[in-house]
Amino acid sequence: MCGIFGCVLQKGAVAPLIHSGLKRLEYRGYDSVGIATVFKGRIYLKKDRGKIDEVHARWNLNDLPGKMGIGHTRWATHGAPLQINAHPQVDCSGKVAVIHNGIIENFAELRDELINKNHGFVSKTDTEVIPHLIEENLKTGLDFKEAVREAVTKLEGSYAICVVYSGAPNKIISARKASPLVIGISDKGVCASSDIPTVLPLTNKIIEVNNGEIAVLSEKEVEIRRIESWERISRKPCEITWTLEMAQKQGYPHFMLKEIHEQPSRLQDGLRLQENYLNLLTTFLDRSKEIYLIACGTSYNACVAASYMFSNLCNLITHPVLASEFVEQYGNAVNIDSTILAVSQSGETADVLNAIEYARFRAATILGITNSIGSTLTRVARAYISQQSGPEIGVAATKTFTSQLMVFAQLALHLAKIRGKVSQNQMDYLTEKIQEIPALVEEIIQIQEKKIRKIAKKYKEKACFYFLGRGISTATAIEGRLKLLEIAYIPSIAYPAGESKHGPISLIEQGFPIIFVCPKDSTQKALIGNIMEMKARGGTIIAVVDESNDEIKKLADDYIEIPADIPELWTPIPYVIPLQLFAYYMAIEKGLNPDMPRNLAKSVTVL
Ligand code: F6R
Repeated sequence: MCGIFGCVLQKGAVAPLIHSGLKRLEYRGYDSVGIATVFKGRIYLKKDRGKIDEVHARWNLNDLPGKMGIGHTRWATHGAPLQINAHPQVDCSGKVAVIHNGIIENFAELRDELINKNHGFVSKTDTEVIPHLIEENLKTGLDFKEAVREAVTKLEGSYAICVVYSGAPNKIISARKASPLVIGISDKGVCASSDIPTVLPLTNKIIEVNNGEIAVLSEKEVEIRRIESWERISRKPCEITWTLEMAQKQGYPHFMLKEIHEQPSRLQDGLRLQENYLNLLTTFLDRSKEIYLIACGTSYNACVAASYMFSNLCNLITHPVLASEFVEQYGNAVNIDSTILAVSQSGETADVLNAIEYARFRAATILGITNSIGSTLTRVARAYISQQSGPEIGVAATKTFTSQLMVFAQLALHLAKIRGKVSQNQMDYLTEKIQEIPALVEEIIQIQEKKIRKIAKKYKEKACFYFLGRGISTATAIEGRLKLLEIAYIPSIAYPAGESKHGPISLIEQGFPIIFVCPKDSTQKALIGNIMEMKARGGTIIAVVDESNDEIKKLADDYIEIPADIPELWTPIPYVIPLQLFAYYMAIEKGLNPDMPRNLAKSVTVL
């Protein structure tokens, strides 16, 4: 997501240091950049859309005066990538400037309250409420520290912020809730950042800031307090020995593994979608006569799962279609009554854009789900929603799949509500259960990763794998297959388990490995039948299985347990995690670099 970096130096100009710190965040992807410094009781600010070098060439980021300042790289979530939406965001008086990483869920209510108190808003960001809240608190006579404290207690959602105030020339105030924040202490000054790479040129002495804490940085020290109790915390710095590359991967050996581990927090962000966008998309879907879910690769696999959600919860037929086939398969049938819900992490995949262009020409309604606000998809779509997974650097999509499913699950719930197809009890149950998914994913990673690594070691010489599932687990199976073949180069086959006896079963011989996706759901009995068919022919069974399902555990040669009591339609999110890890460790066992699979590009911009 966004990168934040604030620094108070004992002497010398801070702007060039912040500029070079932000350059160390470039690898993550961003769309805008900005720096603000405080000098002689005034805030100096430069920000714009574009890459750091472009913005520097346009505005010279280094000549901002002063030894204290804050800098930001923005990955748009609320509001397009425009200069006005870049950070720092300021209050009405231009005396308070804020940079932020995270999502403020209640920003719309807060903005309305502040507008009623005559605050003027210029951006479309959720962040802008923060400087105005602080301004309001300063007006009541609170000092800078207390004004920030009061403001953050009003914020719902996630944040790591750095704030400067022209009336406090030697202080940066930082606060954290559910977004990363570290403090660096050196004999040249003190800094705060979302990312260790920015801090490393200054120091390797780091203090972690915990959730619910505020840090007051001055040139020689940092004061940390609990926001709620105002108790002062004493915490000693620890020394880190990471190289820049290790720091960029947060200590993980590969971006893919880092991104797999990031899924619990990205899914939590996925539960913070803006209600008005969900409602808008739901309204379009509700009045559509024919809906095509168009995507490629992993995004297509998410669409397959979504088609089960929409039909089961909303009685709505949606057609998942591979974008490259769309025109030939359905082109002539597309008309003014058709809706295209295009799903693309990058928002730039040529096959998807080509399909959209064709459908637009035939007057269809275009909707989008994407990770890239400002991408071509967001420009051509009538309405779109962000999947909120943050920059994905590993070529193999991991958090994309689970975050897109989180969006689909909430769209299906909203639509089910409008259409009245699901009882109130069932709606309450599903809504409660979707909230539990991020924690479940965390639990699966923590408990199962070692075992999955061992399983990968055991099966590393196998030349081919089968992935089978029934119902919505078909989508999990095809995504597991895609991961394994793209990064471990193992030819693999995925099918709905029921279809396997219509041909693919001929491949089975002694020791042929078959990975079954086995939630305890309505398909269980039939799936056990499919497992028996494979076992009877000598197949080796690896099951990703509900922990309470002893029957399947007994049948399997190896199994990975998933916590029980997950609603069938939500299972692809937790059940895909072991398959992502399996693919990752198979690549490692084979000595391959999972971040750079051969012949593949992160964004495929050719037809
Ligand atoms: C698979 C993968 C690709 C992408 C596909 C679509 O791990 O990364 O299959 O999913 O190229 O990309 P987007 O979602 O950007 O349209």
